[in-house]
Amino acid sequence: MGERTYLGMERRDFIKTGLITTVAPTLLLANIETIKRARNPIVISTWNHGVKANEEAMKVLFSKGSALDAVEAGVKISEADPNIQSVGLGGRPDKDGHVTLDACIMDSKGNAGSVAYLMDIKHPVSVARKVMELTNHVMLVGQGAKSFAITHGFKEENLLTEESRTAWLKWKKKLGKKDDLGPNDDHDTISLLAQDSVGNLAGACTTSGLAYKIPGRVGDSPIIGAGLYVDNEIGAAGATGRGEEVIKTTGSFLVVELMRQGYTPQDACREALGRIIRRHGGNPGFQVAYIALREDGEIGAAAIRKGFKYALSSGNKNKLHSVKGIIN
Ligand code: GLY
Repeated sequence: MGERTYLGMERRDFIKTGLITTVAPTLLLANIETIKRARNPIVISTWNHGVKANEEAMKVLFSKGSALDAVEAGVKISEADPNIQSVGLGGRPDKDGHVTLDACIMDSKGNAGSVAYLMDIKHPVSVARKVMELTNHVMLVGQGAKSFAITHGFKEENLLTEESRTAWLKWKKKLGKKDDLGPNDDHDTISLLAQDSVGNLAGACTTSGLAYKIPGRVGDSPIIGAGLYVDNEIGAAGATGRGEEVIKTTGSFLVVELMRQGYTPQDACREALGRIIRRHGGNPGFQVAYIALREDGEIGAAAIRKGFKYALSSGNKNKLHSVKGIIN
């Protein structure tokens, strides 16, 4: 591997593209979009429901849409599906029976938008995109996020389906006096990363979070650098699983930074998980998984425990892949 510059490009790439390292940084930055190369569209996302999400994202990419449009369209499929009890409509509620949603989105220019603890709005990812595009903020939470969404035309609706309500009532009956968290649940957040035909990257992450969580709890999914990170010159990464552990290790940012240092996407995911595993004496009792997409189209995926799956789409293929856990 050649010498890396602060922009994450190999020095030989600068020479290839006619840029030299003595050019002022502002000029280099102005050229970032033009130095991307044409790529075959690719989408990677977490869990079984990623297959349908990828399908939608690929439709956007095949019609020459942007990676940003693709990631939003993709995860909206999961958000709208009442049978997915970990994202959007039908998501499992908090301890008090409220469905609260977290989501974020990042584009190829490093712009980011996010919402957390959002209630009664089915598509938090689209609200996050509005935060990114219409404001000079990155993150809105709670009632403020909801008011912002309604101002921008989002419909208020009940997200607690009968199925999720029944399961919550059953859980409540069994709740001991000292319990303050729901079952140890993998909670199947969708993180989705895409590269479009001009080589730009984007990512989105959306979840209803840990089932039966303490009201007010926010996980990693809306935290830029934790649940999701995109650096167009290096790659993108997304997380799923126990959000608290991802936040404490700035997981997705770490995966991207490891790729910047020369780790393959696969090794970057494994090393980022290794930090969590080591913090827990080699045997954490929970799941965390990462997916990664490097700027040249190479992908990686790893999980602490068995059971994690990711969906990968490129060309005409859209397949679910099982990942062997690092621990079991
Ligand atoms: N990874 C999703 C969450 O912890 O909320």
